[in-house]
Amino acid sequence: MSIASAKEMLVEATKGKYAVGAFNVTSLIQLEAVVEAAVEKKAPVIIQTSVKPSKFLRPDVFVAIYRTLASQAPVPVCLHLDHCTEVAYCKTCADAGYTNIMIDASKLPFEENIRQTKEIVDYCHAKGGISTEGELGTVSGVEDQIKVTEDEAQLANPKQSIEFVERTGLDLFAPAIGTAHGVYKTKNPKVHFERLEEIHRLLNGKGVRVPLVVHGGTGLPPEYIERLIAVGGSKFNVSTELKYTLIDSTFDYITQHREEYDPGKIDVAAKDATRAAIMHWMDMLRSPGKA
Ligand code: 13P
Repeated sequence: MSIASAKEMLVEATKGKYAVGAFNVTSLIQLEAVVEAAVEKKAPVIIQTSVKPSKFLRPDVFVAIYRTLASQAPVPVCLHLDHCTEVAYCKTCADAGYTNIMIDASKLPFEENIRQTKEIVDYCHAKGGISTEGELGTVSGVEDQIKVTEDEAQLANPKQSIEFVERTGLDLFAPAIGTAHGVYKTKNPKVHFERLEEIHRLLNGKGVRVPLVVHGGTGLPPEYIERLIAVGGSKFNVSTELKYTLIDSTFDYITQHREEYDPGKIDVAAKDATRAAIMHWMDMLRSPGKA
């Protein structure tokens, strides 16, 4: 239990037709909220950091806090590096003790994406106990240092997806299916469920080999989430909603307590709001009770 890598957790989720929330954090408050929500809901969970906050707080600091909290939690908790475009920094985080590493070379030509992804897969597997995630096609929107316009966004090709997974030896696969980072501009974003279903059938039809990741969780309607789980999505990434929650709850608290100078109370308000948002996601993903 507690300190875990994602592959087994997500194989179980795929088989059980539920999904695990992967929550992007930038601070200790959010990190604690993720673990508290997971404990309360008895749900497996993935903590994620994108590259900027990881560098800002330092990977060894994130890992130390993660290990302290996760080792005391009676549920499996992973620490995942999200959308890292630098091979060297992926290795730095693997060395520091992250349990999952995503190398994102999806903006590069296919062969170069394979080369860089395989380098990280081999590195992490040689260290042992570290799962790897890679992406094919591109997810539009902004995530940390990566910007992809809607025109640049490209769905993952099913045949290429199989080749990509087989040649890299990847553990978790993130195919672009039309979901986007950030806030959706329309109420009914165009998500290609049938594309995920086809990739899932080709990869996992004869037993779950490579769990599938859905990026761009924020703003997905609940019925989309249900359908995406039904067609193979087992890890849902959520970032923007948690940024809004942190900033809005902090702003609201300060606005309502303008004369109070007690940072601890602001932290409590922000953590309570974050934990509630995460628990709501866990309910939508049907992960409560699955730890
Ligand atoms: P959102 O910011 O849309 O929730 O997407 C998160 C994500 O996919 C991180 O990898």
